Amino acid sequence: MNRETQADYQHRSPMQSGRVSSRLPGFYELPIGQRREIIAGLSHMNAKEAECFGDFQTLSAEKVDVFIENGVGTFAMPLGVATNFTINGQDILVPMAVEETSVLAAASHGAKLARAGGGFQTTSTSPIGTGQIQLFPEAGFDFESVLQAERENLLAYANEGQHRLLSRGGGALNLTWRFIEAIRSLVLYIDVDTRDAMGANLINTICEKLSKRIQELIPCEMGLRILTNLCDKRLARAHCKVPKASLSNREFSGEEVVDRIEKAYLFAAHDVYRATTHNKGVMNGIDPVVIATGNDWRAVEAGAHAYCCRTGVYQPMTRWWKNAEGDLEGEIELPIAVGTVGGVTKLHPTAQAALQLMGNPTAQGLAEIIVAVGLAQNLSALRALASEGIQRGHMSLHQGNIALAQRQGAHTS
Ligand code: MEV
Repeated sequence: MNRETQADYQHRSPMQSGRVSSRLPGFYELPIGQRREIIAGLSHMNAKEAECFGDFQTLSAEKVDVFIENGVGTFAMPLGVATNFTINGQDILVPMAVEETSVLAAASHGAKLARAGGGFQTTSTSPIGTGQIQLFPEAGFDFESVLQAERENLLAYANEGQHRLLSRGGGALNLTWRFIEAIRSLVLYIDVDTRDAMGANLINTICEKLSKRIQELIPCEMGLRILTNLCDKRLARAHCKVPKASLSNREFSGEEVVDRIEKAYLFAAHDVYRATTHNKGVMNGIDPVVIATGNDWRAVEAGAHAYCCRTGVYQPMTRWWKNAEGDLEGEIELPIAVGTVGGVTKLHPTAQAALQLMGNPTAQGLAEIIVAVGLAQNLSALRALASEGIQRGHMSLHQGNIALAQRQGAHTS
């Protein structure tokens, strides 16, 4: 191990070399305070500027060091509360961590429109994630017969040692497979009910364990063993109805807005460029709740977008239509892999507070809240886009950012 001292790092400062080197061997072994001093020195920051790497008041240096490697600070993000949500007849305050102006206002507005029609109705499937085990069987080997005969044994083996998960009603449930001729590869799919955990570690552990047993049964070269983020057995759904009367505004009658929102949805359903932006708006609602609860928003993003391609054509995440009474109805269905126990969710004090604010939902309950927020966010965006346009409301809210930037510019120039 090449142990360089802080002085060694600073010796290689941009002043001397002309540019910063990203080679920092042993950096990860230093205490956080020292890491911070080093990067501050390398980038010529004074002590005040280095304070912008964040404080450790909510998230201690100890936790940062456990959560990630090479940690030097924390990144503060605005945390807000979306109002007006009623989900399955119960009012709920929704925590959202996001940097974008107007997201909280839009979510709360969408929830208010839905509230006029009774709020959101949500459902979800069991929290089932899927792991993939890829292998390259010896040519001519009858893996089909072996897997058929051993399926139940393999499932039992996967569940060995998982007493707590099994006692809570979870565990490995099903094993399927397919042979991909083009790459001469057999892929096994193991479905696991992860209960209130997001389950990535659990599924990956099961995949790796199971692969060893499979290698004893099937002569093969082992490939990848990892969960899929396309968790299409772990779906959350929300539905809402908005009375046309709630949608009227200065420019358009309620009936006209319903028609225009339906057309806006159809635009997204027939144009992938629009579908992408439509879905970005949905994720404006989803990601902030996923982040506020300490969950993996990259996993949710990957799964949600892949799910939109399940027909082979990228589709909008929501659907809107005019019902027989002329009111607006909308729905959403997405795979949402989130947990309420384990990992960062359990250790991050703000994530714990966020869950508490929502009444400590189960993982399924949280997934349902998340899709309801996505639907509300989309409703609010489409309502504005389909009538006065998005900029009027957005710019009036954005004024604060502009004024702040001007004040900061005045202070620093
Ligand atoms: C902006 O962050 C999100 C929107 O572009 C979404 C949409 O166009 O539907 C307003």
